[in-house]
Amino acid sequence: MEGVVNGVSKCTPANTHIQRILVTGAEGYIGATLMPLLHAQGYAVEGLDTGYYRAGWLYHDAQDKPRIITRDTRVIRAEDLYGYDAIVHLAELSNDPTCEIDESLTYDINHRGSVRLAEEAKKAGVGRFIYASSCSVYGAGGDGEKTEASEPNPQTAYARCKLMVERDVAALADRSFVPTFLRNATAFGPSPRMRFDIVLNNLAGLAWTKGKIQLSSDGTPWRPLVHVMDIGRAVIEVLNAPSDVVFAEIFNVGCDRQNYRVRDIAEAVSSVFPECDVTTGSNQGDNRSYRVSFAKIRKHFPAYTGLVEAKTGARQLRSLFERIRMTRETFEAPPYTRLKQLQALRDTRQLDGSLYWQPHAIS
Ligand SMILES: NC(=O)c1ccc[n+]([C@@H]2O[C@H](COP(=O)([O-])OP(=O)(O)OC[C@H]3O[C@@H](n4cnc5c(N)ncnc54)[C@H](O)[C@@H]3O)[C@@H](O)[C@H]2O)c1
Repeated sequence: MEGVVNGVSKCTPANTHIQRILVTGAEGYIGATLMPLLHAQGYAVEGLDTGYYRAGWLYHDAQDKPRIITRDTRVIRAEDLYGYDAIVHLAELSNDPTCEIDESLTYDINHRGSVRLAEEAKKAGVGRFIYASSCSVYGAGGDGEKTEASEPNPQTAYARCKLMVERDVAALADRSFVPTFLRNATAFGPSPRMRFDIVLNNLAGLAWTKGKIQLSSDGTPWRPLVHVMDIGRAVIEVLNAPSDVVFAEIFNVGCDRQNYRVRDIAEAVSSVFPECDVTTGSNQGDNRSYRVSFAKIRKHFPAYTGLVEAKTGARQLRSLFERIRMTRETFEAPPYTRLKQLQALRDTRQLDGSLYWQPHAIS
């Protein structure tokens, strides 16, 4: 430990080969919590983000914010990446519904954009590349627990792209370029760049603003969850690990205890918002349901335990909503629901049809 920076205890990085890190998607839900975490670990951390959700920042603090370059991954070049020892790549159209906005765009940004970034990173001599994949690749997975070696069964363009990126970036791996693939469970918990389109956060927001927990499914699908800060902890474990432990490896990120059915998630939320009614819907053609084994991450990183549980996350959200007196307008504001925000930016011609920013003309 080397003292306190911006109220956060700061250490020396455990892996001395890695000093400078670039986080793409730094202005996202995960990125906004990962950046301070990496900074506190002693890394020199910078971000890159095109800024689709820049309008949304749910709560404030007095901390300095690391530098974030406004850039689209689709136009990144090796010269933008010189000097970084590692890239944590989060910048994509994130989650299944957001990607339904336009399937070909999903392939363009999530598959081709990510592979291109990895290729340019390799050219620039970046040694480590951590990719935020998703347990969503297991798709219609049934009741058995899926390991990293199980046959995936992706149901959406989002999940298919995750697999294509894993395949194509793994093919770049060699002694100088070490990629690792983290298949994260669905995240939950507070982040200043809040998202209310993921299950637990959505149910907690509904409970707080409407007094109702409305499930869009019948509650039976399996959905493993992981706290947003525990995704950050997994990234740090990978950064600190020797290259041979993480070389082109895939890790499911979460813990076995947190394989929930959606109705269990609703129960965890309603125990914290007891004044709420819970109603169920139908599965409406969404056949995503997967249980996941997290034995591999536990085996390789024995310190990766004590993950935050759903009920604790719901409690954190309740206390945040109380503190900031969150209104229904805020809960429903576009920047916190990705599909809404992208559609709003396209409708107002701030983004073009390919999700590139348009020049701002005032006449
Ligand atoms: N949140 C989850 O539950 C979850 C679960 C599993 C995997 N993941 C993955 O983790 C990553 C981060 O997720 P998140 O929830 O923070 O997403 P997010 O949507 O909140 O953040 C993604 C960020 O990337 C940026 N971005 C998107 N396209 C870009 C581009 N072409 N160029 C530059 N920036 C771009 C956006 O502006 C946004 O700030 C994603 O790849 C996602 O698929 C997330």
